[in-house]
Amino acid sequence: MEHFLLRNEMTIPAIGIGTWQITDRDIMSNVVSDAYDIGYRLIDTAAAYSNEIAISKAIASKGISRNEILLSDKVWNTSRGYEAVQDACKKSLKKLKTEYFDFYLIHWPASMKLYPDWKDINAETWRGMERLYQDGYVKAIGVCNFREHHLRELQKTATIMPFINQFEMHPGMSQKALIEYCKELGIVVEASSPLGNGQILKNKSILAIARKKNKTSAQICLRWALQQEIVVIPKTVNANRLRQNIDVFDFELTDDEMKSIDDIPYCGGIGIDPDEVTQFG
Ligand code: A2P
Repeated sequence: MEHFLLRNEMTIPAIGIGTWQITDRDIMSNVVSDAYDIGYRLIDTAAAYSNEIAISKAIASKGISRNEILLSDKVWNTSRGYEAVQDACKKSLKKLKTEYFDFYLIHWPASMKLYPDWKDINAETWRGMERLYQDGYVKAIGVCNFREHHLRELQKTATIMPFINQFEMHPGMSQKALIEYCKELGIVVEASSPLGNGQILKNKSILAIARKKNKTSAQICLRWALQQEIVVIPKTVNANRLRQNIDVFDFELTDDEMKSIDDIPYCGGIGIDPDEVTQFG
């Protein structure tokens, strides 16, 4: 497994397992067990996924020691602010029966449509994140769904900038400008829904490259992100797909192939705009 380097010298596996929409305990148990055997070591979850306990039980029943895996969790929007984010993190740590998270991320920036003081809210939540980092509850702190303006605002008050920004990124949503900006700040990008939630897999350009390379569409999508040094966390409940999604290190996309994927017009995915969304509070 390849790794990428964070600014604090910590490494993060290039591929992890996404767990959004997996809540069933038996299914989670199989996913974690298969993924571990196949070689995955990073598990991505969030308080909002309602599966922290299922993950904790799956890890325990497989007999995986804490230092063999990396756990990434996210604070939900109802726990913004200096104190609330710390309380939320400690609750999630209990659910996952662990003393620390490898990665802990703010799930969404405060919506500017709902909060005129979104900048202050994000700044205060981030101050709580920095405290969690300093106190050793988290080895690397980060954000999700932060755009350039959110990061620019955070820079005014942050003493440690995020190590990670996780956002939706896949062919048909290539996010070039934001990726570039994150790289300038030394922030590692993690692609959520790197397969466009499955919707990009039948795209003609992707299928053509897949045929040429004798790979699957999913492998082409993941390889395209990895070649941009982006961590991917594809979600699947299927053991063969888990195997397939990690088997992406024995081929390379050419510059022309990369470019043709970059140029795929907007296509599917989750498509939630962090500035437009209001239902998440
Ligand atoms: P399933 O869980 O039934 O395998 P994303 O990670 O972009 O959100 O995409 C997740 C979706 O893609 C899920 O519907 C998942 O279905 C599907 N998926 C994951 N890996 C593969 C794969 N290798 N081939 C086809 N579909 C996949």
